[in-house]
Amino acid sequence: MQVCHSIAEIKAEINRHFLTQSIGFVPTMGALHDGHLSLIQSAKQENGLTVCSIFVNPTQFNNAEDLLKYPRTVEKDLEMLSQAGCDIVFLPSEGEMYPAPLSLSIHFGHLETILEGAHRIGHFKGVGVVVAKLLNIVKPTHTYFGQKDLQQFLIIKQLVSQLNFETKLRCCPIVREKDGLAMSSRNIRLSEKERQIAPKIYEALLLAYAKIKSGESLKNAQNAAITLLNDFGVFEVEYLEIVNADDLSPANTTNLAICTAVTLGSIRLIDNILINL
Ligand code: PAJ
Repeated sequence: MQVCHSIAEIKAEINRHFLTQSIGFVPTMGALHDGHLSLIQSAKQENGLTVCSIFVNPTQFNNAEDLLKYPRTVEKDLEMLSQAGCDIVFLPSEGEMYPAPLSLSIHFGHLETILEGAHRIGHFKGVGVVVAKLLNIVKPTHTYFGQKDLQQFLIIKQLVSQLNFETKLRCCPIVREKDGLAMSSRNIRLSEKERQIAPKIYEALLLAYAKIKSGESLKNAQNAAITLLNDFGVFEVEYLEIVNADDLSPANTTNLAICTAVTLGSIRLIDNILINL
């Protein structure tokens, strides 16, 4: 496995393979877990060459403490990627990615004003810019994201379509712990007690899912899920919304997503499930 720190290095490395192989790309911020590795597996299945980037992107953090405390486990990450059969890792420094302060900004319209966008102001602008830069550097034929960050996937779909990036996007299913908690780099920051109770987030989503499936109103389903979480007295529910899955607008189709963001202690966790009526 080749590890590249500079843009020049990774471009040269990719150019050596580009004419003969399709390139599967998995952008990450590191602190890797089996959710990330499932994206690497999908990339490997579909492509001759698999590239992963690890870069904790400062421009997408709207909270300085969150950026500071974001887990960094590069040695372990490289070991995991090597074992998973990743071919090239791009591991740039902040100076390499942002040699000068950003002077441009990308807007995503309605999509950046709701759910995550409403609670993490500027977050998607940072995601959009860094993913655009990474796509320009790696020029992948296929790029892999997780449904775990459903809104991020839709933002990137918009970016790729409207700026004519030539990459096919894939949205891979959420990988969960045995007890249902969606895998996340932030989970390792939960205390033992918080970790024990964290699977209730998925339970709340499943409760809403079951209620909708049994014909109850969306409002009832939403209220029941929020009440389940509130009754524990430790979750702060930022939002739990039932929306159209394709653009996260207010639910009025048969293809829905139940999306939530919850703070547990000082850790903010997100999760979602898709539901077809
Ligand atoms: P990060 O949080 O490291 O996630 C990298 C990719 O892994 C994302 O596409 C995310 O949706 C996916 N992922 C995370 N947890 C998952 C799980 N439990 N199951 C399946 N996939 C999962 O998302 C980012 O980094 C950044 O915003 C990035 C796109 C790299 C831009 O900086």
